[in-house]
Amino acid sequence: MTAQVADSGKVALITGASRGIGYGVAEALVARGDRVCITGRNEEALQQAVQRLGADRAIGVAGKAHDEEHQAVAVQRTMEAFGRVDFLVNNAGTNPVFGPLAELDLAVARKVFETNVVSALGFAQRTWAAWQKENGGAIVNISSIAGLAPSPFIGAYGVSKAAMINLTEQLAHEFAPLVRVNAIAPGVVKTKFAQALYENREAEAAAPYPLGRLGVPEDIGGVAAFLTSEQSAWMTGQTVVVDGGLMLNAGVG
Ligand SMILES: NC(=O)c1ccc[n+]([C@@H]2O[C@H](COP(=O)([O-])OP(=O)(O)OC[C@H]3O[C@@H](n4cnc5c(N)ncnc54)[C@H](OP(=O)(O)O)[C@@H]3O)[C@@H](O)[C@H]2O)c1
Repeated sequence: MTAQVADSGKVALITGASRGIGYGVAEALVARGDRVCITGRNEEALQQAVQRLGADRAIGVAGKAHDEEHQAVAVQRTMEAFGRVDFLVNNAGTNPVFGPLAELDLAVARKVFETNVVSALGFAQRTWAAWQKENGGAIVNISSIAGLAPSPFIGAYGVSKAAMINLTEQLAHEFAPLVRVNAIAPGVVKTKFAQALYENREAEAAAPYPLGRLGVPEDIGGVAAFLTSEQSAWMTGQTVVVDGGLMLNAGVG
C-alpha cells in the first residue's frame, strides 16, 4: 500500500501506536506520505505494526511512555532514522481502575497522571528541543470526552484527560507561533482499551450516539491527519470532539 505513496518529507512520532487509535493515526499519516516512529511496550506487537505500515516508512521504539529514558531514545532514534520530527501525537494512555474516587488508591492516581499527562509533557519537551523549536511542526494530544464531562467510575482518568486539555492550551501558547498544539477528545472507539464498554452489547452501547455507531480508529486518524496538516494552519490550543455526536445529548431531556 505505502510503496506507491509520494514521500511528504514529514515525520511523526506517535506514542502507543502498535494497535488501536495510535495505529489508526499512524496509518493515516503514512497513507499521505509521512514517515513515522511508533512506540508501545510490547516489542513483538510493535514490530508487527511496523511491518504492516511498511518498514520503509516506519520504525518502532519499545518502552513505557512515562519512562524518561525511553522518551529520549524514541526521539533520538526518530532523528537518526529520518532526520527530523515534525509531529508528535501523544496517544499512549492508561485507565487501570474502575470505581469511585472516594476509594481510589492514590498510588494508582499517580500512575494515571504519570502515564497520561506527565508523559505527554515529557515527549513534547523532547520533540520541541530536538526539532520543533527551530523548524516548527504540530503536536496532537489524544484526550477524551471523559476530560470534558464527568464519567462515573473513571474519575482519575477523566481528571487526567482534562489536564491534557489544559496542557494542550498551555503548550499551544508557549510554542506559538512555530508549533501548533491541539487535542482530540474521542467518544468510545472500538479498541482493546475500550472493549469492556461495548463487548457483547455493541448495539446498546451505540444507541445514544446520534451518528448511530461507535467510533473506529480511522475516525480519529483522519482528524489527527487534519491537525498535522496545513489545512489546520490557523488552529492552535483547541480540543476537537470526535464522538459521533454523543456530547449533543447533554442538551437533551
Ligand atoms: N478507545 C476509546 O474509546 C478511547 C476514547 C477516548 C480516548 N482514548 C484514548 O486513546 C488512547 C489510545 O487508546 P486505545 O483505545 O487506542 O487503546 P489500545 O487499543 O489499548 O492501544 C493502546 C496502545 O498504546 C500502547 N500502550 C499502552 N500503554 C502504554 C504505555 N504505558 N506506554 C507506551 N505504550 C503504551 C499499547 O501497546 P502495549 O500494550 O504493547 O504497550 C497500544 O499500542 C489512550 O490515551 C486513551 O485514553 C480512547
